[in-house]
Amino acid sequence: MNPEVEAGSIDVGPKADRVKIFDTTLRDGEQSPGISLNAAEKLEIAQQLARLGVDIIEAGFPITSPGDFEAVETIARNVEGPVICALARSSFQDIDAAWNAIKDSERPRIHTFLATSDLHIEQKLRTTREDVKGQVRAAVAHAKSYTDDVEYSPEDGSRSDIDFMAEVVQIAIDEGATTINVPDTTGYAMPQEYADMFTALYERVPDLKKVTVSVHCHQDLGLAVANSFAGVLAGARQVEGAINGIGERAGNTSIEEFVMLLHTRRPDLGLWTGINTKEISRTSRLVSRLTGYPIQPNKAIVGRNAFAHEAGIHQDGVLKNRQTYEIMDATTVGVFSNALVLGKHSGRHALQNAFEELGYKIDGAQLNQAFKAFKEIADRKKEVTAMDLEAIVNDEMRGDTKAFTFDWFELHTSSDGEPLAKVKVTKPNGEQVEGAGSGDGSIDAVFAAINNATGEKARLAEYRVEAVSSGQDAIGEVSVVIEIDGRTAAGQGVSTDTVWASGRAYARALTNAERRRGVVDEAESAAARAAVNNPVAP
Ligand code: KIV
Ligand code: ZN
Repeated sequence: MNPEVEAGSIDVGPKADRVKIFDTTLRDGEQSPGISLNAAEKLEIAQQLARLGVDIIEAGFPITSPGDFEAVETIARNVEGPVICALARSSFQDIDAAWNAIKDSERPRIHTFLATSDLHIEQKLRTTREDVKGQVRAAVAHAKSYTDDVEYSPEDGSRSDIDFMAEVVQIAIDEGATTINVPDTTGYAMPQEYADMFTALYERVPDLKKVTVSVHCHQDLGLAVANSFAGVLAGARQVEGAINGIGERAGNTSIEEFVMLLHTRRPDLGLWTGINTKEISRTSRLVSRLTGYPIQPNKAIVGRNAFAHEAGIHQDGVLKNRQTYEIMDATTVGVFSNALVLGKHSGRHALQNAFEELGYKIDGAQLNQAFKAFKEIADRKKEVTAMDLEAIVNDEMRGDTKAFTFDWFELHTSSDGEPLAKVKVTKPNGEQVEGAGSGDGSIDAVFAAINNATGEKARLAEYRVEAVSSGQDAIGEVSVVIEIDGRTAAGQGVSTDTVWASGRAYARALTNAERRRGVVDEAESAAARAAVNNPVAP
């Protein structure tokens, strides 16, 4: 499904003030606990990132699993516009896998990393500074033999000895690295400290002026955007981050926050990005739905309350002059109006037109599938809004063939008042299974019945339901996190019926867990193979 959006508010300004946006939603973002996207979902996100106007998409880490390799390759072959980047450690095997995955892209980039902090060198890599220098030299040269566009990151850069890191960065530039990204891997840095580190690095490595300098920050102390901003003020012109700030542990820099900071304060800063800000909300909702990670209501820019005014005194002020309490216009980030679009009697053609108006071009089998889902919703809901239609698209068009699907349920109450559920579920191998279960409430009973039907021993860790649009008949969007075999998996489902939405969300979480299990198994065997074939990196 490809929303087609006209070019929007793309800024222009002096080139030196242009900040490139490097999106790692599909790599660092996908490393968040519980997230596991299939290739079709990753492609859908990558296509939306291209419409958003990011400069670089880090599509994945191909050596980690055949699934990740396939997703990166699919994105490289199908997404036009942004540079498509793949991550690799410094071993030749990693770099070869990265190159093989992206080689069909019009604009391929290899991103290789190796830590420069003594803590990582001694405790994690169990090697020496000299060896790190040799590995970086070989890795960048090897990557460069494939493509001109090579990025090197000294992992744990913000906790590295500056003189040693400068030596390694100089080696990477000498071997042809075109982007040097200095990460605050652990989210430990403070803004001034991070900026000073860049100033010190520029002093020690004058050649940094010939390449793109990049920031990559983590959110452990809630400073990812502030640190990224400090790095840019110190001279960096590439910012790495993820939509909704997802990523390892507490996450990465929120791209939407960083972009809107530059956009809103442009008169003072003069810095700009190529982002079409009107695509921000839609991108955020898509990432939230496909990852199963809900957006906190008060999240800056994309939270449901980001542009809402609750206190009477604020509402009064905004009615008199919006600028009293608003620094941005909601339409700038593409927040939909919740206007009525379709009713119960609307036909297939009207639905297709409505989708087109929203920027989605669908026909054939996709239109039939969307129409069926629309009818089910329109039978229960008086008005189907733009937000509802978008939820239908995101929910129905996953393209996941190997999935658990929640097909049917029936609810009863036992003679002693306990809720009972019967369900039918299709397993990823196509087999349909039935099961029954009881619980504290109907939804709990459905989850127990799904476990019994599938034989899965999942435990519900988190459950959340939110309305997609307003009104008593609103579509409910359910997000669940399950725990299974010591790992977590997230899932999300939408319907006007909360039990349906919950069953779908649970089935998707099981699918994600299954995929993750496969990914982990594949990755473990790949790592074992790598250790046997190549015990020491090049
Ligand atoms: O946080 C980090 O250091 C990373 C590197 C791979 C850039 O994600
Ligand atoms: Zn990171």
